[in-house]
Formats: sequence, structure tokens, C-alpha cells
Amino acid sequence: MPRPVGAITRGTTNPNRLRRVDNWIAAHCGDLLRDAPDPLVIDLGFGATPVTTVELRARLATAVRPDVRVVGLEIDPARVAAAAPAADPPGLDFLRGGFELAGLRPVVVRALNVLRQYDEAAVGPAWRAMTAALAPDGVLVEGTCDELGRLASWVLLDGAGPRSLTLAAKLSTLDTPATLAERLPKALIHHNVPGEPVHEFVGALSGGWRDAAPYATFGPRQRWVRAVSAVREAGWPVLDRPARWRLGEVTVAWPAVAPAT
Ligand SMILES: C[S@@+](CC[C@H](N)C(=O)[O-])C[C@H]1O[C@@H](n2cnc3c(N)ncnc32)[C@H](O)[C@@H]1O
Repeated sequence: MPRPVGAITRGTTNPNRLRRVDNWIAAHCGDLLRDAPDPLVIDLGFGATPVTTVELRARLATAVRPDVRVVGLEIDPARVAAAAPAADPPGLDFLRGGFELAGLRPVVVRALNVLRQYDEAAVGPAWRAMTAALAPDGVLVEGTCDELGRLASWVLLDGAGPRSLTLAAKLSTLDTPATLAERLPKALIHHNVPGEPVHEFVGALSGGWRDAAPYATFGPRQRWVRAVSAVREAGWPVLDRPARWRLGEVTVAWPAVAPAT
């Protein structure tokens, strides 16, 4: 067994806080998992309780394939031991491991609210360690959310590096898309300053939301769809379709938001 790479950090978690990223994984990585001979998914850094790992397994088993295998990895051995009663092998297990992924070869890795407690300089090496351990065509989903999962963002990466950034929000409680800037992935959060592409992108989305205020009478969903349309019309490489926008998401190609400095 390789030595776990990384450091123990705060274990804060909450039931259901990762629902937005889980639903996105089911939609975007579903075919990858359906075609995989071994549909192994790793939840890296599950925290003080394994509740979000249990939920990930349930969601993927229902939406993608019942024989999906989810392994929760934690660098803190006490948290691995505490999670053991929730194990349900072979579909759900908990092991000690870090960014090296414990010698496993997953098709999908979800790493949420893990890197935010590291320095920005740690992001590149952690991304490379995790993507190097993926199965062929495997992907890493790395990001951040708030305590209740109302604001979330994540980066999709494969063996070649980052591919896209997704922002997702509970629209009924969203004041302005600008608040999503507080929950950007570690790779971007310190770049939300004038002159940086991600700052321009969040600004464009917020401007679109402001201009779409008249659509609020039809509900926040219509307003968000209008705002994302405006961003796309302005030339931002929006990758997803209105069906996803209606869920309060927008996914943009990584090169458009990658740090300039
Ligand atoms: C804030 S909790 C996140 C829990 C859950 N993923 C969530 O989003 O609710 C972060 C957890 O990641 C763990 N962690 C930090 N670095 C890690 C690493 N390199 N490998 C595995 N676990 C790690 C910490 O020990 C901590 O329990």
C-alpha cells in the first residue's frame, strides 16, 4: 500500500451538501461508468462522517448502474475507522488513502471541499497525483461548496489536465451569481480580482443576471437561463445546454477561466 499523500484537515461535512455535484456526475460521467468494466468511483476526503459517500453511492446506483463501486478514501485513520459501520461491500467501502488514491484505478474521483484547506501551490501537484492514478479515460471532479450545498463549483479534469469549470446554485435563494465567487475551487478563488478571466466570467454572469431582472416574475430559473444565454451570446464558451442551465448550472471551457497569473 503506498503512503497516503496529503494532510489531515477539518472534517466538516453535511448530509446532502454535495447533491448538485453528484447529479452532475451522474449526468456527465454516466456513460463513462456504464461502459467501464469496473465502475469504480472514489470519494476522496469524505470527512468526519461518511454521509456524502453513502449518498454518492445511492445516487449513482440509482441513476447510472446498480453495481457501481464507491470507495471513500480518507487520510485520517480515525475517520476511516468511524466510517466502517456504514460500509456495504462490494458497493461501498472505506479505506485510508490520499492524493495517490491508495493504489486504486478509479473511473471517477470526486474530491469536494478537500483542496480548499490547502495552499494554492498544492493544487497542481494534487491534481497531477490524482489524475495520474485514474483508469484510462477516467476523470477527476474537484471543487468546493457551502455548508448546505446551495452554492458550489467544481473543475472537471482528465489525464491531460483541467477541461471545464461548473458553477451551480440553488436559484430560489440566490441573490446574485457574484456570491459564487466565495465558493470557487482553490485553483481560482484567489484569482477573483480584476484582470483575471474568472473575475470577468463571474462579472459577466452577474451582469446577465442583473439585466434579466424582469424575468424574475417568471421565476429564478427563467432569470438564470436568460443570464447564461447572455453570457454565451457574449462569446463565453458555455459547454452545456439549457436543460442543465434550468438546474442552476453553467459549465464553461477551462481555458476561458484559467488563471492569467
Ligand atoms: C472538509 S472535509 C470534506 C468532507 C466532504 N468531502 C464534504 O465535502 O462534505 C475534508 C476532508 O478531507 C480530508 N483530506 C484532506 N486531504 C486529504 C488527502 N490528501 N487525502 C484524503 N483525504 C484528505 C480531511 O482529513 C477531511 O476529513
